[in-house]
Amino acid sequence: MASGVIDLRSDTVTRPSPPMLAAMAAADTGDDVYGEDPTANALEQRVAAMLGHEAGLFTTTGSLANILGVRAWVAPGKELLCEAQAHIVRAELGAHAALNGVTTRTWFHPRGKVDLAAVRALVAPDAGPYLVSTAAIAVENTHNFAGGTVQALDELTSLRQAVHGTGVRLHLDGARLWNAQVATGVPAAEYASVFDSVSVCLSKGLGAPVGSVLVGPADMIAEARQWRKRLGGGWRQAGVLAAAGLYALDHHVDRLAEDHAHARMVAEVVNDAAPGVVDPASVETNIVLLNVGDRAERLVAEAREAGVLVGVVGPGIVRLITHLDVGAGESRKAAEVLGAVLSR
Ligand SMILES: Cc1ncc(COP(=O)(O)O)c(C=O)c1O
Repeated sequence: MASGVIDLRSDTVTRPSPPMLAAMAAADTGDDVYGEDPTANALEQRVAAMLGHEAGLFTTTGSLANILGVRAWVAPGKELLCEAQAHIVRAELGAHAALNGVTTRTWFHPRGKVDLAAVRALVAPDAGPYLVSTAAIAVENTHNFAGGTVQALDELTSLRQAVHGTGVRLHLDGARLWNAQVATGVPAAEYASVFDSVSVCLSKGLGAPVGSVLVGPADMIAEARQWRKRLGGGWRQAGVLAAAGLYALDHHVDRLAEDHAHARMVAEVVNDAAPGVVDPASVETNIVLLNVGDRAERLVAEAREAGVLVGVVGPGIVRLITHLDVGAGESRKAAEVLGAVLSR
């Protein structure tokens, strides 16, 4: 980060720390396309075990982990249901349609939650010769564009019961699943146990430079491994990157609580300066949405001039995400800058 700039555009902007780089430099490696990279294998086994699934696959990105997870369950011409603001449908550049022939229908919830009544109204496992049949449902936890909101475990369990016996599969986009765990105390494995497959990111709040892991049944992951290679995502001495992921799991999960506290504090400071822009009580994890109407572009530009980077993620909605490269003092400074711009 340029000195003095406070970058809150995303928790993906973190740089590997010196001890993380040391772990990467010390990694034992092999050719992962041959399945011979001990560090990549260890990461895959560790994340699968942490989430209570049979097997794992290390991927370059969360998008690729989602693409492989959804592809496993949804044949070309079938549909995936998800919430209207889901990353899968908004921010993966149509990959599921473009690469895998997946069609999508969505329900909308203002906080990105599972709406059981809406899902029940949409789901059609065997829609006959004329309508598209539902093959899978994806849920995002925490939900990025809804503001880092956490899915309630009992709603997820009800969703699982609702599709029981229908053959409809459940995929969890858990790019920030550890944020949900830290915010609620519900173990990531409990959330994961509801789903047939789960993608988690190491390069968001956990601070690794690259990488996600897809977990699921062993046969599904074996096929996903072939599809990863088919799509050009097979890599060789991936252990250098897997070592960063293992380091992140060892050192950067519990500290997510600090990011959550910083996000809440930012919301409080901004709300004091510009009442009505954000309800601090709505901040559940590390993402803050500021509802600023027609001031969005001006806020982003003037904050940038003052050394604070934030982004527009929807009409009138400015998003900021706290992370491990921004401490309490910088978070407060950023909040004061945003508050000052909004109160002018
Ligand atoms: C909820 C969610 N899922 C998936 C992704 C995709 O991750 P990647 O950028 O590694 O492809 C993101 C990225 O921000 C995300 O927020």
